[in-house]
Amino acid sequence: MIKINEKIREKLVLALDVEDINEAKKLVEDLSPYIGTFKVGLQLFCGYGLEIVNFIKEKNADFFLDVKLHDIPNTVEKASFNVIKNGANFFNVHATGGIEMMKAARKGAMEACVKYGKKEPIILAVTVLTSISDEVLKEELSNTKTSADFVVQLAKNAKTAGLTGVVASAKELPLIKKELGDDFIVLTPGIRPAWSATNDQKRIATPTSALNDGADYIVLGRAVTAAENRIEAIEKIYQEIEEGI
Ligand code: C5P
Repeated sequence: MIKINEKIREKLVLALDVEDINEAKKLVEDLSPYIGTFKVGLQLFCGYGLEIVNFIKEKNADFFLDVKLHDIPNTVEKASFNVIKNGANFFNVHATGGIEMMKAARKGAMEACVKYGKKEPIILAVTVLTSISDEVLKEELSNTKTSADFVVQLAKNAKTAGLTGVVASAKELPLIKKELGDDFIVLTPGIRPAWSATNDQKRIATPTSALNDGADYIVLGRAVTAAENRIEAIEKIYQEIEEGI
C-alpha cells in the first residue's frame, strides 16, 4: 500500500453508487484507508436506509448523506434534524428550495447538533443539476439567466442562508470561488483521471485540475468503483494528484 497523504485523503469522496449493500460495505472496508468521506446517495439510502449509514459509522468512517432535500421549510427543518440525529454530519439540500428553506435546514441541523452534542455540520446546496441543460432551464423552467449566472445566484443564496457551500461542476468551480470566496466550500463531481472512461458525464475534470482550481472535495465514482482493480485505481489517482498539485 502506498503512503497516504492525509491532506489528499480528506478531500476525497467516494460515491457508493451500487445496487447491492454488500458491495457498498466491501467498498467501505477496502477503501477506507484512502477515502476521507463516503457518499451515500438516494439509490443506496432508499434501498437500505440506516443499515448502510450504521455500517459506515461502525467502521468509524465519515459519510456524506446525498439526500438533496427540497420541500417546505418546516419539513426540511425537521428532516435536517433527523439527518443529524441519525449520525450524518454532512448532507445537502436543493438551493432552488429558496433561502428560507435553506435557513430551515441549518436551523434543524443545528438544533440536533446542540441536543446530541455533535460538531457543526457541513451542509451543501445543490445549485443546478448537471443533467439540466441551458435549453431546459430556459424553455421548461422559464429561467432567463445563463446557467453560470443562475449557479452563482443560487450559491450566493446558500451563503446568505448560512450553508457551508455548494455542489458544483468543475466548469463552475473557479467562478464560484471567485464570487463567493475561498472559504465557501465546493464539492465537485464529474471527476475523471485522464486514463479512465468518461461515461455519461459531460463537464468533467481530472482530480488534479479540480483540486488546483480550489475544489474542497472531489467525488470519485466509476473511475474507482468500475475499475477492475479498485485499489490500483485509487493508488494511481493518489500518485497523479501528488505529482500534479
Ligand atoms: O461515477 P461518477 O464519477 O460519474 O459519479 C459521480 C457522482 O456524483 C454520482 O453519485 C452522481 O450522482 C454525483 N453527482 C454528479 N453531478 C452532480 C451532482 C452529483 O455527478 N451535479
